[in-house]
Amino acid sequence: MKIVVGTKEEISKIVSEEIIKEIQDKPNLVLGLATGSSPIEVYANLVKAVKNGKVSFKDVTTFNLDEYVGLDERDINSYRYFMKEHLFNHIDINKENINFPSPDALEEYDKKIEECGNVDLQILGVGRNGHIGFNEPFTSFNSTTHLVDLSYKTRQDNSRFFYDIDNVPKQAVTIGLKNIMNAKKIILMAFGESKQEAIYKMVKGQVTKEVPCSILQEHSNCTIYVDEEAYNLLKTKTEGE
Ligand code: F6R
Repeated sequence: MKIVVGTKEEISKIVSEEIIKEIQDKPNLVLGLATGSSPIEVYANLVKAVKNGKVSFKDVTTFNLDEYVGLDERDINSYRYFMKEHLFNHIDINKENINFPSPDALEEYDKKIEECGNVDLQILGVGRNGHIGFNEPFTSFNSTTHLVDLSYKTRQDNSRFFYDIDNVPKQAVTIGLKNIMNAKKIILMAFGESKQEAIYKMVKGQVTKEVPCSILQEHSNCTIYVDEEAYNLLKTKTEGE
């Protein structure tokens, strides 16, 4: 597991350049995507790169990590809406190559990922409680695409987009930890002090179901990009060793 520390702006630049390079090397790249605040600047950089003719998503296939259950794609809080707003509507991706998990086609999603040869590059954020995708604490490391009941903490974290926690859906559909681990390369980004405990546990803690992201210690090509605030606890504890 490699750790890179920088400002959000620096990291977003490095990560978008990495994605661009991967697409240049393999135009039909299979890209795993996350929503949330962490990758927004990366997506903005990708949009610019497409507009400047630096890269094309024409042959790229994307698989998003997760989606709420019960929200229409025109709902501004759905992850399909988010991805259109921040990326898909502004790049030359073939709409047929965009994939989202759905509650009535769980196994089909796993199959489709496999048929595409698995994800080449997976972009991840991480929750305060260590969730990746919507894989909450105590999710099996063997999990594949599945339905989840969202924890109060996660609903609370996400309520800023819904004005009121009661409007946050109680269920979501997510790819599993096994799917994530099957990606050939993983990039995880985390910004802000609220992530420092998750980052510390992810890098230095035991590999345990209690902290879903800790499984990433076992991935052979995983880089964690953090800002100083998210790095702080790990830095302090490492210095004290
Ligand atoms: C989003 C996702 C989540 C987020 C995580 C961090 O598709 O899968 O695991 O990556 O909740 O969210 P932000 O980036 O908003 O802090």
